[in-house]
Amino acid sequence: MRIFTGIQPSGILHIGNYFGAIKPILDLQGQGDVFVFLADLHALTSVQDADTLRANVRMATVDLLACGLDPERTTFWRQSDVSVHAELMWILTTVTPMGLMERMVAYKDKTARGLSSNVGLFTYPILQAADILAYDADRVPVGKDQKQHLEATRDIAVKINEAYGEGTLKLPDAQIAEDVAVVPGLDGQKMSKSYGNTIDIFMDEKALRKRVMSIVTDSTPLEAPKDPEGSVIVSLYRLFAGKEQVEQMKDEFRAGGVGYGHFKQRLFEAIWEFYAPMRARREEILARPGYVDELLAAGAEKARGVAQGTLERVWAATGLR
Ligand code: ADP
Ligand code: TRP
Repeated sequence: MRIFTGIQPSGILHIGNYFGAIKPILDLQGQGDVFVFLADLHALTSVQDADTLRANVRMATVDLLACGLDPERTTFWRQSDVSVHAELMWILTTVTPMGLMERMVAYKDKTARGLSSNVGLFTYPILQAADILAYDADRVPVGKDQKQHLEATRDIAVKINEAYGEGTLKLPDAQIAEDVAVVPGLDGQKMSKSYGNTIDIFMDEKALRKRVMSIVTDSTPLEAPKDPEGSVIVSLYRLFAGKEQVEQMKDEFRAGGVGYGHFKQRLFEAIWEFYAPMRARREEILARPGYVDELLAAGAEKARGVAQGTLERVWAATGLR
């Protein structure tokens, strides 16, 4: 069972990214043959600044390793290190109907949000199909927003197989995470970089405390009972504390006599402790010069070995060889 997924490197990790994207991937380790890559070619459709892209890829690599990605168990590489992604994409574009791409909502969403339109942004799903199909992936765990891209990937594989013979490409199954909860930000909206309401996971102690203390609360006085349902403090605390601790906080909310500041302090401590081992691992990784580059090189080599085999199969099927 080959489990395959990609992450677009997008900067500083926050708690929403951790629980919504990183942790589900880490939880797959041990469930099969896991392949995870950093989609830097995809990132180029929206990040057009060399220093930013370089820093984002580096940061994403360090943070993933710190959070527990195990390169011994998981094949982990950077997309642009394996040229098969781009080579296979070209072949796929030649069987992809225009209408299929025109139906993709991500392009419309992104341009509506102000990203400038470019052909790369439009054909983004074909590169994604190439990513997946190059590795004969069985299962692709992704968020709901990627469902349409996975359907397009299957449609494109079917087109190739119709044109060049069954079995040329393997049809992958999407594994859509329907139940991944949205992590709220400081203001109660979805935690997101674009809303400036994030709690970043590798903040230093002082900055983290300050962020947690700035969670927006109502003006219920200290002595009055408070409603734990719908409280951002309780919602976040649930992610870091055990069931009993959460129940206790909820009881104290209802009883009154304890101010929000006190609950925030408890939340801060839980977050700080939760990420302590990952912070320590991150420091270790940062202290080893060359480690990240060596690791990416080794990952690329493993990945290339698999992807090249698929490309050769497609070359033979299409008559390119
Ligand atoms: P942001 O909204 O901060 O720009 P991204 O869009 O880069 O975050 O998201 C990267 C990944 O993290 C995606 O898989 C997304 O689903 C997940 N994610 C982002 N914010 C949250 C959140 N508040 N709760 C759960 N998952 C999230
Ligand atoms: N488009 C995905 C996202 O925005 C990232 C991605 C690129 C991906 N290629 C992939 C995910 C292949 C799964 C499989 O999150």
